[in-house]
Amino acid sequence: MKFYNINYSEEKKNFSQALKKGLGQKQGLFFPINIPKLNNKTIKNILKLNFVDKSNYIISLFLNKKEILLDELKIQITKAFNFPILLNLIDKNLACLELFHGPTLAFKDFGVRFMAQMLNFFNKKKKIVILTATSGDTGAAVAHAFYKMKNIEVIILYPYKKISILQEKLFCTLGKNIKTIAITGNFDDCQKLIKQVFNDKELKKLLYLNSANSINISRLIAQICYYFEAFSQIPLNQRKNKIVFSVPSGNFGNLTAGLIAKTMGLPIHKFIAATNINDTIPRFLKKGNWNPKKTIPTLSNAMDVSIPNNWPRIIEIFKKNNWNLKKLESYSITDKQTTNTIINFYNKYKYILEPHSAVSFCALKKQILKRDTFNVFLGTAHPAKFQNYIYNTLHKKILLPNILTNCIEKKNLSYKLSNNFSYLKKFLIHNYVI
Ligand SMILES: Cc1ncc(COP(=O)(O)O)c(C=O)c1O
Repeated sequence: MKFYNINYSEEKKNFSQALKKGLGQKQGLFFPINIPKLNNKTIKNILKLNFVDKSNYIISLFLNKKEILLDELKIQITKAFNFPILLNLIDKNLACLELFHGPTLAFKDFGVRFMAQMLNFFNKKKKIVILTATSGDTGAAVAHAFYKMKNIEVIILYPYKKISILQEKLFCTLGKNIKTIAITGNFDDCQKLIKQVFNDKELKKLLYLNSANSINISRLIAQICYYFEAFSQIPLNQRKNKIVFSVPSGNFGNLTAGLIAKTMGLPIHKFIAATNINDTIPRFLKKGNWNPKKTIPTLSNAMDVSIPNNWPRIIEIFKKNNWNLKKLESYSITDKQTTNTIINFYNKYKYILEPHSAVSFCALKKQILKRDTFNVFLGTAHPAKFQNYIYNTLHKKILLPNILTNCIEKKNLSYKLSNNFSYLKKFLIHNYVI
């Protein structure tokens, strides 16, 4: 299997090259040349497998056997997907796909942990320096995924005093190959510093840099697997119904993975792309003009995105399949609707939603009334991550999962640096150039 650059189709890479490169020339995203198509019998057989074996089969279709043997791939997948995934049946034709039982309590653990194992596997010689900026959650996923990997050093920048103490503790207490730096500035300043590092000729020569960011094709390939897993957990008597997935969307990576699963042959009837009030896509699908507005902060803050970076991949999927983009349903949900959804959902089902999952459920609501559908909304974060907000909304105290309680007592090992590129450059040379 090869991957081509959407902006420059002459550039073709195999999986390991696309993984290491991240972004292609002309800022182009990599995309599979041919999405593998599976017949009904094969899909039936895949659905019988456990999650690791299922993932091993699916992912192997995107890799070259010369790059990695099936058994070796299984070892890496076993290490990456070492936590449960649950389709929680809430009502007869409604379920939440709980993707938040990983080490950092969010769906990102799937993509980032798989990417980490693959980078580690394909890089035996050089020391890779992963440099990334976080406004909270990505930092934790990256830190835990690469923790204690031998040939990989991780540096995470985050804005000083601008993330929650819980978020900070989750990734700033690990130590070993994970260094965290609080920058006296905001998230944009952190991103700017990272860009400066990647553009600095001297640092590029001295260090083997990678960003582990969300557009990496390896992260998407990992995410395809949980749509197949969701399907196999749907009660047998519901599988004859039309299966609908509602996906809380920011950068649209999650939806891209789902659409790839459908292209492969997984019988998904419909996707609903649920956004918060940052509604570039619902407006685009309705009116046909691309008109991103200034990003507005919302309760579902990880989805505060106006220019979704995976959108070109979605266009590519629709083009290749000859699907009509107008048929993609997409709704924008306000914060008020989000809060009301959380309250009503709890009153009806005694199930606590957090804001991102509430957005995906809210966009799905009308579907449930249809008798011939089975409806799945994606639960992308653990409600414990929003403890205070949930307390204020439902007057319920959520018990923190062990991973959070364990790190609260630990010492914060972060460095603090001024928002100044030359300080960061000195830090990198001092710590990583032998
Ligand atoms: C909790 C949560 N839900 C939903 C999303 C949106 O996912 P995507 O960016 O793949 O659309 C994110 C993105 O970071 C997230 O953190």
